[in-house]
Amino acid sequence: MSQEMNLPANIVEEPGDKNTRRAFLAAAGVAGLAYTAALAYPIYRYLASPAEMAMEATAVTEVTLKDAQKLPAGSVLMFKFGPSPAMLIHHLDDTWVAMTAVCTHLGCTVQYESQADRIHCACHGGVYNAYTGANVSGPPPKPLKLFKVAVNEAGVEVSRG
Ligand code: FES
Repeated sequence: MSQEMNLPANIVEEPGDKNTRRAFLAAAGVAGLAYTAALAYPIYRYLASPAEMAMEATAVTEVTLKDAQKLPAGSVLMFKFGPSPAMLIHHLDDTWVAMTAVCTHLGCTVQYESQADRIHCACHGGVYNAYTGANVSGPPPKPLKLFKVAVNEAGVEVSRG
């Protein structure tokens, strides 16, 4: 349903005014749709079923991290393995480990703490072994899933084991 406004008698409508108004309304409509889509997509992703997320996650079998071979020892590189956060750790003893960064308790993103050489979940205090992904303390019921790691001169290949 469209609504037309009557102009006051002292304002004379020019013939081009209607087209300008229509163009403005069309542009405002497009901007409104884009704004709505920008707001709705994160909500959709938040509400997407875990099964759908798992299907997307299993569709990805390998990730190439270009130039990641330059990661200094004792540091971590966070990356996405499919839709899920993951981490590549270059330990001080020059070993490389990659694993999911999704806590097995309630799904928070875990962090590598280089000082303590452990993986910590800030949500409820879960702790994991930074080499094996084993759940060490706190509420996490299972270990973090490890990925295979292949370091080469161009980067690091991370793949499902
Ligand atoms: S979500 Fe990680 S300890 Fe609860």
